[in-house]
Amino acid sequence: MTINQIRQKYLEFFQTKGHTLIPSASLIPENDPSVLFTTAGMHPLVPFLMGEKHPAGKRLASSQKCIRTGDIDEVGDNHHLTFFEMLGNWSLGDYWKDEAIKWSWEFLTDKKWLGLDPQKIAVSVFAGDKDCPFDQESYNLWKEIGVAEERIAQLDKNANWWPAGGNSVGPQGPCTEIFYWTGGGQAPKKFDQEDNRWFEIWNNVFMEFERTADGQYKPLKQKNVDTGMGLERTAAVLQNKKSVYETESFVPLMEQIKSIAKDYQEESARIIVDHLRAAIFIMSDDLGIVPSNLNQGYVVRKLIRRAIRHAKKIGIPIEVDVTTPIVELIVSQYQNVYPELSKNQRKVIEELNNEENGFEKTLEKGLKEFSKLSSNKKISSQQAFDLYSTYGFPLEITKELADEKNIKVDEKGFIKEFKKHQELSRTASQGMFKGGLVDKSEQAIKYHTATHLLHQALREVLGSHVEQRGSNITDKRLRFDFSHPEKMTEKEKQKVEALVNQKIQEDLPVCVEEVSVEEAKKRGAIGLFGDKYGDKVKVFTIGDYSKEICGGPHVESTGALGRFKIVKEEASSRGVRRIKAVLE
Ligand code: ALA
Repeated sequence: MTINQIRQKYLEFFQTKGHTLIPSASLIPENDPSVLFTTAGMHPLVPFLMGEKHPAGKRLASSQKCIRTGDIDEVGDNHHLTFFEMLGNWSLGDYWKDEAIKWSWEFLTDKKWLGLDPQKIAVSVFAGDKDCPFDQESYNLWKEIGVAEERIAQLDKNANWWPAGGNSVGPQGPCTEIFYWTGGGQAPKKFDQEDNRWFEIWNNVFMEFERTADGQYKPLKQKNVDTGMGLERTAAVLQNKKSVYETESFVPLMEQIKSIAKDYQEESARIIVDHLRAAIFIMSDDLGIVPSNLNQGYVVRKLIRRAIRHAKKIGIPIEVDVTTPIVELIVSQYQNVYPELSKNQRKVIEELNNEENGFEKTLEKGLKEFSKLSSNKKISSQQAFDLYSTYGFPLEITKELADEKNIKVDEKGFIKEFKKHQELSRTASQGMFKGGLVDKSEQAIKYHTATHLLHQALREVLGSHVEQRGSNITDKRLRFDFSHPEKMTEKEKQKVEALVNQKIQEDLPVCVEEVSVEEAKKRGAIGLFGDKYGDKVKVFTIGDYSKEICGGPHVESTGALGRFKIVKEEASSRGVRRIKAVLE
């Protein structure tokens, strides 16, 4: 059964059980600053698990795009993936353990659906502790279905609680997991959680608690079921493959890498295709994440760079394009399920090519530098940081190189150094965000308003991926840094200039309002939002043209600005362009 068929069957099955299908949410969680990525299908449903009414009803099912970066070190083995699809069904205060358990069994074993051998299935239930008792109900249900006692393990919060360990805040509860014997022949009578031939394929979570910030488990308003089945893993099981990389989703990608590598190694190829696949899905999301040094953008950067380093390790020549064919294969495979892939294909290829080419230039020099350092027993935090800031080596690459030579890296020191660095750039942007303009002379104020017009004009001419990366204003000129992958053409510059001048001539009024960050976002304001929620911010509107968060001050209307002229357009850093402009 192919991956597409399994996905389809699953969704169809739960439709026959009265579930409404909902589309996959974005990989970048909306309104949830506590996590960088959607790691499970329940993430986008948190408000509804807490009791809010879901417009699609109480029974939902989906195939959700997920990213788990915690497993990155394991990538390369048989089944850990950074990006994967999770099939899930939910009861929001509707059915409970009985239906959830019986339906998972029916879907997995009935010949009409997946038809897995019931003799090869084992399960686990929550053993109980001071917060929550042993899950007798699930245990009894499994016995009733016919699962032998030796195949029903009783496990603790680390194994049978979601989120694992029970230390996070929010909706949660005990779970019952389903395992399938992949070791060939008859399955052993007794289930052994340490034996990874027992392969986890399904998790039913019974969410009846909310853990509060002070560590208490409070009963939720409603009892929910939250389930998850890893699609790629299930496909591997059904197709009798040892690893997910042997399923049809990965075979063409692996073959592509094999065809260009002079010194092919399976593990490196797995890392390359896993990491690029994850980066491609993240960047294809409509929210437009691109490689950068912050948050999700930095994860994307690390994934691509680690992939490129492995590409060089297995002898893929520098002149061979590693990334483009992988994008094309993934888009052709998934575009019907995730249309955002083809929609954003061009941009994703451009960004990947930029990152690939840029990193290849410094990688070789960085490797030379590393080999000098590796005569020592340890890479110091400063050396690791230099490898990062001069040669673009994320800590993960330095660590991996060090591991290969059996030397240590001062990771803690590096992280401290790295945070200090990020802190500095954040303070800089927050200063700008709060205080607005430093030089408050009349001419500087004009440049400040002109900067807003320029920002908006760039987004119109080049696209909404344009975001402010920096701004510096004196009474003689403005300087504006923004995200854009390539040099602007003459035509684009002329268009931007003309647009700004048109808005100046229209003598648009500049208005200011104070609203919450949430409200500003809702109204579509652009600009630097800072990190805080709930804070009041000023939003400056220029006619109906530009709406931007900013501290001010600005002119009263644009007619005062004079004529706007771009004097220079150049690269500022990778993926960031810089414009210098004057008012005449
Ligand atoms: N949220 C549960 C998991 O991801 C189903 O395992």
